[in-house]
Amino acid sequence: MDWGVKNRLARIFKPDTGKTVMLAVDHGYFLGPTSGLEVPSKTIKPLLPYANSLMLTRGVLRTSVPADFDIPIVLRVSGGTSILSKDLSNEGITTSIREAIRLNVCAIALSIFVGSEHERESLLNLAELINQAEEFGIPVLTVTAVGREMTRDAKYLSLCCRIAAEMGAHFVKTYYCEDFEKVVETCPVPVVIAGGKKIPEKNALQLAHNAISHGAAGVDMGRNIFQSDNPVGMIQAVKAIVHKRISVEEAYKMYEGSKKT
Ligand code: 5RP
Repeated sequence: MDWGVKNRLARIFKPDTGKTVMLAVDHGYFLGPTSGLEVPSKTIKPLLPYANSLMLTRGVLRTSVPADFDIPIVLRVSGGTSILSKDLSNEGITTSIREAIRLNVCAIALSIFVGSEHERESLLNLAELINQAEEFGIPVLTVTAVGREMTRDAKYLSLCCRIAAEMGAHFVKTYYCEDFEKVVETCPVPVVIAGGKKIPEKNALQLAHNAISHGAAGVDMGRNIFQSDNPVGMIQAVKAIVHKRISVEEAYKMYEGSKKT
């Protein structure tokens, strides 16, 4: 693997554990001012010291993240639809590779829509993005979007992750599911999980614990951190699960305990 790709990946995946806690704050690219992310700078600022990486769009990066804060950026470069669109799978590439380099990012991210109407376009967008990114040593994260009519099971998610890896993605983001180890085993690149919709804090910690126990290389969590009543406590607890392999009980105590300080 190219030195630049390895170096950028080593900034996202901490070399001492090989794992990462990415904070996903890219939701506005199709959801607009999502609950908890209405003013991105306010949400992001207190969490910055704890995240191993930040996933977001260029607009939020430029307006809401201080340029002198040292954090690896994973830039979302796909979009073109909104929550009002009839078909969310109709995404294109929104940000050029030159812009990603100008913004000094560590990776770029694009969603694929396997089994959806625009499956082919999204896979060819991925191929094109990887071809461009390879020239400059920029890793590509593929996000396996799941259409409303799809089932989040190991069979479907393995299909999505494997296709992304075959196309040349350097890491993949998907959902945790039953038999998750099958998804990881059949995907030759690291798999990180999205948190999904907000659930009770203990359940979100359990989700992170299950994912790491079954082979995930980390989490790329958004709503279950920034929509929590204690976002800083939540990210610290998730981080301790991912990097220190503490139990869910210990992590929950950590989250509760930090409310008092
Ligand atoms: C949407 C994304 C989001 O970053 C991700 O799903 C958000 O994380 P969470 O589900 O934990 O809020 O990639 O396609």
